[in-house]
Amino acid sequence: MDYKKLVADELHKHVAEYMSQEEVLNLLEKPRHDEHGDVAFPAFSLAKVLRKAPPVIAKELEGKIDHPAIEKVETVGPYLNFFLNKELISAEILKEVMTQEADFGSSDLGQGRMVPIDMSSPNIAKPISMGHLRSTVIGNALANIVEKVGYKPFKINHLGDWGTQFGKLIVAYKKWGNEEAVLADPIAELLKLYVKFHEVAAEETELEDEARAWFRKLEDGDEEAKGLWTWFRSESLKEFMKIYDMLDITFDSFHGEAFYNDKMDEVISLLEEKNLLKQDRGASVVELEKYNLNPALIKKSDGATLYITRDLAAAIYRKRTYDFALSLYAVGNEQSHHFKQLKGVLKEMGYDWADDMYHIPFGLITQGGKKLSTRQGKVVLLEEVLNEARSLALEQINEKNPTLEDKEGVADQVGIGAVVFHDLKNERLNNFDFVLEEVVQFEGETGPYVQYTNARALSILRKADQPIELDAPLTVGDDYAWDVLKLINSFPDVVMNAFNRFEPSVIAKYALQLSQAFNRYYGTTKILVDNEDRNARLVLVKATSLILQESLRLLGVKSPERM
Ligand code: ARG
Repeated sequence: MDYKKLVADELHKHVAEYMSQEEVLNLLEKPRHDEHGDVAFPAFSLAKVLRKAPPVIAKELEGKIDHPAIEKVETVGPYLNFFLNKELISAEILKEVMTQEADFGSSDLGQGRMVPIDMSSPNIAKPISMGHLRSTVIGNALANIVEKVGYKPFKINHLGDWGTQFGKLIVAYKKWGNEEAVLADPIAELLKLYVKFHEVAAEETELEDEARAWFRKLEDGDEEAKGLWTWFRSESLKEFMKIYDMLDITFDSFHGEAFYNDKMDEVISLLEEKNLLKQDRGASVVELEKYNLNPALIKKSDGATLYITRDLAAAIYRKRTYDFALSLYAVGNEQSHHFKQLKGVLKEMGYDWADDMYHIPFGLITQGGKKLSTRQGKVVLLEEVLNEARSLALEQINEKNPTLEDKEGVADQVGIGAVVFHDLKNERLNNFDFVLEEVVQFEGETGPYVQYTNARALSILRKADQPIELDAPLTVGDDYAWDVLKLINSFPDVVMNAFNRFEPSVIAKYALQLSQAFNRYYGTTKILVDNEDRNARLVLVKATSLILQESLRLLGVKSPERM
């Protein structure tokens, strides 16, 4: 319920000659101290037109305000402070949440238009990095958020499955590789072969020529080359899937770079038609001086296309196929220049829709303040982190609730949820330190804390064992309850804010705040009393739990019913 608007409407009645309803609304503030009420109007905004001192204006308005939802109005200096009728407003808020349930906070802003989200996108035959993990969970949360505001997300895993490295990999595999070793541990083995290629090629330079020849064959559709490439790709993907399954994250498309091979000629012709390709020592580039960027290298002197050429083809393909309203790329900060160039070239091509493309950059995960090293076998590492998180969660459950049913299943949801939540609670551009033991704590600013708060709320509702009555009085009274209610009421704004900034941390931070407010309330108020307050209190508990669950769902974190 928009009580700021309610105040603005009432106030506007008395100042309509001087300002619009919207102007009044924009002037309204949230007082810094609770004792100054719920909404404040700065009267100096009227001082000029009325030629009176602000405190005088405030005082005069004070006498005119009369609305059942406004309990009292007070002038403090130049401010007119509004105190809302909590009983009436809380009842309204609770009814709204309880009738809309999980839809509370949804909107149809997007009108069903598509939003492709380029996310995760690891490279074939290489371990999935912490950066790819961030891209995966940020992209997934953004997908949920855009859906919440009425768009249709489309999650694309733009796999790094093309490039000259595949020529090297084929040479290395044919020389030193064998099938069983790859099948046993695909990515570790392929990485080993790749590393060995570079070691040996440092001495025997003709290997590079062989690799180039094999990549050429691959491009020309040679059976053997194609067969090996397909196999490397599918084995790698199987490994990646293990991680996606643990996170319970799905994709709508696995069109990677290779998918655009047959769409490259068109990109080059389009660029030529528009006279955008300039020759530079045999290579073709697009000048981007206008945008203060280096020229974008589109085609090498040997005719090979590049990462950006494939991204151009992908962007055009996505616009044509999905007619997107927005196109998002959850990719690390270090590729900012690439995405600026990409948009620059598209703009030069005359595609104004390039303005609807957003690179969503993010910072690094560090350990002890240092970048996590790209050690061999990162896939294992990531799987290990997630497994470790599960066992730490299980330890805590054993401590707190040893008789819990399906402890393993709950530990799964808590451990993985903890890692995901931790990733999302930091502003995405910030680097953050990862200390697993802290991440999985049930107390503090963690995912498990939010999950635990929700589980507690659900357990009270089970204990109460009674249907909730929405037509009975819904007075929840005290200040702590009011804090919870105000937060619940702000959820739609929080969702919109997260969407506008493409920033899932807005929701994570909010879920922490709501949990803290609820625990303060719960710690001081007996819910299961034997009088008429019981129903209203249960409704508040239920509404809190609904919003906590919806917040976690948007982040891609599960809400166990018991823990
Ligand atoms: N495969 C790339 C990497 O690992 C990320 C791809 C991002 N998406 C894109 N459309 N360029 O760095």
